[in-house]
Amino acid sequence: MTVVLGIETSCDETGVGLVRGGVLLGDALSSSMSEHARFGGVVPEIAARAHVSALVPCVRAALDDAGLTLHDVEAVAVTAGPGLATALHVGVAAAKAYAQVLGVPLYAVHHLAGHAAADTLAHGDLPARSVVLIVSGGHTSLLLVRDLVRDPVIHLSDTMDDAAGEAFDKVARILNLPYPGGPAIDRAARDGDPAAVPFPRPLTGPNDPVLGFSFSGLKTAVARHVEAAEAAGQDLWVPDVAASFQEAVADTLTRKAIAACRTHDVETLVVVGGVAANSRVRALAEERCTEAGIELRVPPPRLCTDNGAMIAAVGDLLVRAGARSSEPHLSV
Ligand code: KG4
Ligand code: ZN
Repeated sequence: MTVVLGIETSCDETGVGLVRGGVLLGDALSSSMSEHARFGGVVPEIAARAHVSALVPCVRAALDDAGLTLHDVEAVAVTAGPGLATALHVGVAAAKAYAQVLGVPLYAVHHLAGHAAADTLAHGDLPARSVVLIVSGGHTSLLLVRDLVRDPVIHLSDTMDDAAGEAFDKVARILNLPYPGGPAIDRAARDGDPAAVPFPRPLTGPNDPVLGFSFSGLKTAVARHVEAAEAAGQDLWVPDVAASFQEAVADTLTRKAIAACRTHDVETLVVVGGVAANSRVRALAEERCTEAGIELRVPPPRLCTDNGAMIAAVGDLLVRAGARSSEPHLSV
């Protein structure tokens, strides 16, 4: 079995992982998230510079974690896209250098295929067909995954505006809750009534795209509710607003994920991304999957968010399937 080094630099996380035969041997992660906070979003130039300083230390840390040395690496896999071009370039350039110097093959990996493959490190091979719901600060997508090696992932839908995690972060700001907003709303919602405010379920009307997502209107509905309460001089019970907003997101995400499974006759749903950590999203996904006879797979949080292990996991699948290396045609 081949030791695969995976490198991820598509956004603000520098991730490195080592995988052999479907088993995670070691990994390391460095984030530039705090450097972007004052700009209100990821700044590509800052992310790229952070990858330059973090990448080699992360490779060393992942090797230490696995008890390996660089000379044990037998293949390199790297995120080739989609992502921020300047950030991707750092990982690709480094991966090419490692592959060249070590004389090992290099594999270009699709970032979203990586997210889908992350679950294989926790729960073993994916079945022949599965639906993957990716919900983070940057993505809200439904994918149909058939065979990560031979078939590219099929995009079923994306958000038309804000990602689900972005909506959590923006609503937290409206409610004066700390950043990152998702965990703060999750905590506040424990003391609230999810039925207190009837927030809309976006794109769930009869003429709406069944699998489509949109969260910007929901965020505006929360802002209007808060403004109206202030204008009327009413005390706002933040936990009720947090719980009602969270319920609207969880209801919408799980309804659409189940619809995707039904439409494509799939019996396994994988949920990944930072928002997969949300207690209500998880509980409702479990409840609705059980009702629908669908197997639910949610990897542990560290594999849910951007990381290098998921890229190594795709590389490992490619190696085991005898796929051809991407060098020298690898481009971003
Ligand atoms: O996947 P991730 O760590 O990073 C990227 O977006 O790349 O996702 C971060 C997002 C943030 O928007 C954060 O607020 C959200 O995931 N998040 C949550 C929870 N934990 C993290 N959202 C809802 N509930 C949570 N418990
Ligand atoms: Zn991602």
